[in-house]
Amino acid sequence: MAGQVSHVTKEGVFVTTDVNSTDILEELIPAVPGAVTEKVRSIGFEQVSRALVDELVARCDPPSVAGDTEVHLKVTFGPESADYTVTIGDRSVAAAAGVPKTPWTRIEISVEGFAETLFGRPNTTATPLWRHQALHVPESRTPPGEVRAILKIQEDADRSNNALVTALSTHRPSLEQLAYRFGTDKWGTVHWYTTHYERHFGPLSNERVRVMEIGIGGFDDPDAGGASLRMWQQYFRRGIVYGLDLFEKRIPVPRIRTLQGNQANGDSLRNVAEKHGPFDIIVDDGSHLNEGIITSFKTLFPYLRDGGIYVVEDMETAYWPGWGGNPPDRAGTATSMGFLKTLIDGINHREWDKENTSYFDDNVVAAHFYHNMAFIVKGPNHECAAPPPIRTGPPDYWPPQDGD
Ligand SMILES: C[S@@+](CC[C@H](N)C(=O)[O-])C[C@H]1O[C@@H](n2cnc3c(N)ncnc32)[C@H](O)[C@@H]1O
Repeated sequence: MAGQVSHVTKEGVFVTTDVNSTDILEELIPAVPGAVTEKVRSIGFEQVSRALVDELVARCDPPSVAGDTEVHLKVTFGPESADYTVTIGDRSVAAAAGVPKTPWTRIEISVEGFAETLFGRPNTTATPLWRHQALHVPESRTPPGEVRAILKIQEDADRSNNALVTALSTHRPSLEQLAYRFGTDKWGTVHWYTTHYERHFGPLSNERVRVMEIGIGGFDDPDAGGASLRMWQQYFRRGIVYGLDLFEKRIPVPRIRTLQGNQANGDSLRNVAEKHGPFDIIVDDGSHLNEGIITSFKTLFPYLRDGGIYVVEDMETAYWPGWGGNPPDRAGTATSMGFLKTLIDGINHREWDKENTSYFDDNVVAAHFYHNMAFIVKGPNHECAAPPPIRTGPPDYWPPQDGD
């Protein structure tokens, strides 16, 4: 084997080989734990090991260092093995097939252990499933006599090595850490959304969720954006993340798929959802125009699974006339806030004998509102109303109330 496997630069550009890691990982993840060996046999060891290396590189947060450090990563499958050179440089990491010339360390892991570490139960303190070996420091990297220089080289190389083994762990960083690392504005300065996300998404974070976010970022630059998609990719360690944008986008990171479509066009959204849905989570961080938010919600909410959550961000535009907002008419249904507020009465529709129920009356079970954002939860809304004798007035056994 030869050639590049995957690569992340300090600009955040990620390049992968022609191995379609997303398809392979989507097939592999349900087999973790317990059935990885059979799955590797059916997919092929080389394909799986490359996809796992792609995932590892995507999870690695390379430090700021002076030079490159090579790590020899050896993946085994029974008697077979595959060698990779992982090169960690200044805020960049790259993996290529083959044995490095001057490795600083060697990590050996079975393909089953690799899959279990990346996609198994998170945040366990179990012993690492890899063997780690510190190798002799190559003389070419540490010229004799310059002790301070040698120490600096060693320090940088250790930090680089440690960035890789930190990625090769069962730990999941917090949403705040991931938002900061990838540079999405969902946390800090303007918005403090990740704390709300953590509350609602935490229970789903280790599930095999399908997450769809409208609005990839970077507008018409095909290679820009994707900050929040990368955040979700790492938060939902076993999930598949879809991003939809008006513009064509390339975010070649394992378990991320980009789609093109207009959130203000119901047909465009339906086509996407028919092909890739249903979803467990949908996040609207797209145009923030009121009409588009409402069209997207009405079209995509039916493509959420029961128990799924639909999130709308940046609803300050409900009060901005230039964006379709209408501050004086806050009860009107033409703004995002006005429309979503109708869902709350819909949750209780059985209590006020609405004659014809809507899809949303029957399928919205909870609505949580925070500053400029809302979480709408889907499920069968069939709780019974109280029987008529109780509803017509307080029962005669009710004790006298103040003022009676
Ligand atoms: C605020 S950025 C998304 C940022 C990203 N979610 C993040 O947190 O990193 C908004 C994106 O929405 C896209 N967008 C604007 N209007 C849209 C529309 N009508 N349909 C789909 N995407 C749209 C823009 O191209 C832009 O890339």
